[in-house]
Amino acid sequence: MLIRTPAPHDPLPSEITPRSAYLNRRAALAGLGLAAASPLALAQPAPAGGGKLAKLPGARSAVPGAVVMDKPTSYADATSYNNFYEFGTDKADPAQYAHTLKTRPWTVSVEGECAKPGRYGIEDLLKLAPMEERLYRLRCVEGWSMVIPWEGYSLSELLKLAQPTSKAKYVEFTSLADKAQMPGVRSGVLDWPYVEGLRIDEAMHPLAMLVFGMYGEILPNQNGAPLRLALPWKYGFKSAKSIVKIRFTETEPRSSWTKAAQQEYGFYSNVNPNVPHPRWSQAAERRIGEDGLFAKKRPTLMFNGYEAQVGQLYAGMDLKRFY
Ligand code: MTE
Repeated sequence: MLIRTPAPHDPLPSEITPRSAYLNRRAALAGLGLAAASPLALAQPAPAGGGKLAKLPGARSAVPGAVVMDKPTSYADATSYNNFYEFGTDKADPAQYAHTLKTRPWTVSVEGECAKPGRYGIEDLLKLAPMEERLYRLRCVEGWSMVIPWEGYSLSELLKLAQPTSKAKYVEFTSLADKAQMPGVRSGVLDWPYVEGLRIDEAMHPLAMLVFGMYGEILPNQNGAPLRLALPWKYGFKSAKSIVKIRFTETEPRSSWTKAAQQEYGFYSNVNPNVPHPRWSQAAERRIGEDGLFAKKRPTLMFNGYEAQVGQLYAGMDLKRFY
């Protein structure tokens, strides 16, 4: 994100559609009377997972806005093109190196400004609330996006157990940073551990999701096993992976990215096509897996398309100042 000059990334194998295949597909769709983006295609169930990890199905979420109509990204793309700097800065590094991450036993400590701090084992967290499947857009600050079926539940289910006090204005999330398991942590590319933060009302919003799985299976290590956040209206870097600590604070947490480049990564980081990153525009995005060479960029939507659900959290705020 910060370190490498953002250039359009090299196309994934799945993005390079041979011209013949592309034309055949168009012809087949035309024969069926279907356009490429027909509602029929959009209504199809989420694609299957890789079949190698334990199943973790969720019931389709009833939270408003939790299931978008976009076509889901393939499992192969969602698990091979990742940002997880603890395993390296190349998009292919996490899939290659994250097998060294040990996800059992795993404990998350909940602490800070709350009446009931606690330590939760991953098995207890898996049972804390009914598993839901939500289809969220994920927009990376680098200008690409995916659509991922996540398994989990609202983060508020865990936060409310801690009974945050009136001093709890923010929530800070800390990822594991273990040099023995995570080769990237031996480098100084970020100030480890990876830290992110939310205002408490953002963290309590029903769309803020605590995620344990994707595509009906447990999370692959490269996607942030055994638990991570998914915050669909914010740039992807706010969704911390492999979380070990959640802390309620009175003051705004300093995230790793803000520490690395304050002018480039603000605390809010809501997806906003009207606020360019200092070094590039945020007005459009490339959807990973969309017919590569022929695909036009998509316009990026305010709050990543979740304005109806989350817009009121920011009523009256100057979003150019609070980027
Ligand atoms: N969490 C940690 N701990 N380390 C990271 O490097 N990268 C972030 C976010 N969470 C990151 C992280 C960024 S930049 C993005 S875009 C998303 O994870 C990517 O999630 P995905 O690989 O599941 O698509």
